[in-house]
Amino acid sequence: MANKNWDQYHDYEGLDKLLTAQNLRSDKAGNPVHDEMLFIIFHQVYELWFKQILFELDDIQERFSSNVVDDRDMQPVLGYLNRIAKILHNLVSMMDILETMPPQAFVDFRQYLGTASGFQSWQFRLVEMRLGLRREDRVSVFHGEFDDELRAESKKTIKDAEKYPSLFDQIDGWLSRTPFIDNQDYKFWEEYRNAIHNILDERIKETQSLSGDALEKELKTIEKTRQKFSGIFDKEKHAEAQENGTWRMSLKALQAALFITVYSKEPILQGPNQLLKLITDIDSLLARWRYRHALMVQRMVGMGAGSGGSSGYDYLMRTVENHRIFSDLFALSNFLIPTQALPALPDEISQKMSYNYSSEEKAA
Ligand code: HEM
Repeated sequence: MANKNWDQYHDYEGLDKLLTAQNLRSDKAGNPVHDEMLFIIFHQVYELWFKQILFELDDIQERFSSNVVDDRDMQPVLGYLNRIAKILHNLVSMMDILETMPPQAFVDFRQYLGTASGFQSWQFRLVEMRLGLRREDRVSVFHGEFDDELRAESKKTIKDAEKYPSLFDQIDGWLSRTPFIDNQDYKFWEEYRNAIHNILDERIKETQSLSGDALEKELKTIEKTRQKFSGIFDKEKHAEAQENGTWRMSLKALQAALFITVYSKEPILQGPNQLLKLITDIDSLLARWRYRHALMVQRMVGMGAGSGGSSGYDYLMRTVENHRIFSDLFALSNFLIPTQALPALPDEISQKMSYNYSSEEKAA
């Protein structure tokens, strides 16, 4: 009986395939290097987690694919985004285990890798792309495009995925459709802009006590702040900023993300606010993974070139900064104002954003 149960577990988990997939090339060459096992298992575990992340993205992106996202979809979407964030967190901290490998051990089996490199992980490429990293945003590698040297099958999977909207595109569309922001009697950005101008006018009044260089400096700062805010309120300024790459998101999406952020306590905005938080967590965790990986690479191979053909550490560090996807959501913090200066929402809008039963109780 005990044996039978054990067999079922063995079959269910596909252990025949899983546990025979660690083939140490150093062993085969008659020059066994103990740490090659860790190196192989490490990559395999990562690939399994990449598979799980893609599986979660399949579901999330399916729910976001229509022009109206069902409110009931919010709960599973938040759950799966949270799961992706937890997996990435785990992938970052797992680097500690790989760093137990002495660089000398890596040197001892590196010759057996040939040109194999995580650079050719097509699942990692899919994760990046499905989240929203575009081909044109990538740091160039001297030998051409990132997918030039992938197997035809993997290349096709990537090309096919590029034809569909990424999570970035879907979230941009979803944010742009946020209700409450642009009504006949209430326009969020007009109210918000007025609040900012009031703050800046107050600051100008306070300059009366200044003179000379200090006055000039403060007036310049105030004008710069006014300009900065106009980038999110003014259509043309935003179009310019999109053109030069300062903003990637559409104006409507940015304003909606700001609205959701500043009024996040309103019951109906709590879910969307949580979603924005999880997206920024994921973007930040991906950058942290890139950074941890780059540091680990420097520890193993110094500043030398990678087996996949890039410049190695230097290339990887550049991806930390340049392969961010949702930087716009981080940049929104530039536009926050103190809570006490936040314009109150009109009652009608505030009522609509409350749960009906609680507003009825309040009225009774
Ligand atoms: C001793 C351990 C490792 C070393 C020395 C190493 C080295 C490198 C280097 C030098 C690159 C740049 C591309 C190239 O020229 O090869 C790279 C890319 C990459 N590696 Fe590793 N790596 C190691 C472990 C891992 C692990 C455990 C993973 C997990 C899957 C991984 C995943 C990746 C990925 C996804 C890239 C592409 C990054 C990008 O282009 O943004 N690496 N690796």
